Amino acid sequence: MLETAFTKQIGIRYPIICGAMYPCSNPELVAAASEAGAIGIIQPLSLAYVHGYDFRAGLRYIKQLTQKPLGINIIVEKSSKTYEKRMQEWLDIALDEGIRFAITALGNPAWVVQKLHQVNGIVYHDVTNRSWAEKALDKGVDGLICVNNRAGGHAGTLSPEELFAELQTFNVPLVCSGGVGDEEDFVKALKIGYAAVQMGTRFIATKECREKNSYKNAIVTANEEDIVLTERVTGIPLSVIKTPYVEAVGTKVGCISRCLLQHRLTKRWMRLWYTLRSVRRFKQMTLHGGTSKDYWQAGKSVHGIHAVESVQDIIERFVTYASMKAPSSH
Ligand SMILES: Cc1cc2nc3c(=O)[nH]c(=O)nc-3n(C[C@H](O)[C@H](O)[C@H](O)COP(=O)(O)O)c2cc1C
Repeated sequence: MLETAFTKQIGIRYPIICGAMYPCSNPELVAAASEAGAIGIIQPLSLAYVHGYDFRAGLRYIKQLTQKPLGINIIVEKSSKTYEKRMQEWLDIALDEGIRFAITALGNPAWVVQKLHQVNGIVYHDVTNRSWAEKALDKGVDGLICVNNRAGGHAGTLSPEELFAELQTFNVPLVCSGGVGDEEDFVKALKIGYAAVQMGTRFIATKECREKNSYKNAIVTANEEDIVLTERVTGIPLSVIKTPYVEAVGTKVGCISRCLLQHRLTKRWMRLWYTLRSVRRFKQMTLHGGTSKDYWQAGKSVHGIHAVESVQDIIERFVTYASMKAPSSH
């Protein structure tokens, strides 16, 4: 019953993805998800720049912790030539080390599709609506990560139900990304027709995640009204917990930044500047402890998260509940 088009395609037991998270995807978290029968997605920038691994050595360490399938996140945005070259090198290493699943985001996934398909691998692309989905499918992706308006990180604008209705006519597996915090949300997503769920926030509040306890506790105690979208971190709306600091500085960028972010000639540089600043900021937060000016990324799935647990306990609870509640397969 938990066998879906996604689990068959990827060769895993349960239709659950531990989504890539900058800066939270430490090797132990990624490996624990795969080991428990789901699939953990490696975030290369997180592995190399936050958790300090040489990329291949980091992959090998994860592979020591689990021999089950793993995935890699490639943000394909063309921010700079150096970034693109680094991503291509890292993908080659990942393929060399046996990774056969990639989740792409934010740009043209064609080169990733080409490399993965050469080795019979699978690529899913993050989308928030039908038009992005069409573009990605034109480039040959095998499935879609459907990012809804409840997601942590960069959220979409449509509800899980609306997004499924928009995308279901494409003949590929759809993964629900956003808003899944407990077993009821999981079953609800499968009942809508999704072939899997991708969770981020739920997996931050785990024993395996190396984030600070203050961040994990903020997730455990927050309710969904505490989640706000702020433009002040990356220049585009990012889902974070409303802390006293977020309330004090507000969630909108100033007029000049807004103009520069929208203008054809300057928007790319502004995005790059925001991205570099946020990468540095999150790295500081994870490595050097918190300050009162931290941004804690989380989605509305906080409503179903009431304790810091082990990854295996979460996955077992979800699949046990689903086995009882959702007798039909997709
Ligand atoms: C802290 C955090 C960092 C994230 N970083 C990334 C990332 O680097 N790449 C990516 O494709 N998605 C990223 N995401 C999105 C997640 O992979 C996942 O799709 C999302 O968290 C699902 O929503 P949920 O948090 O409600 O479970 C991030 C999410 C969070 C919460």
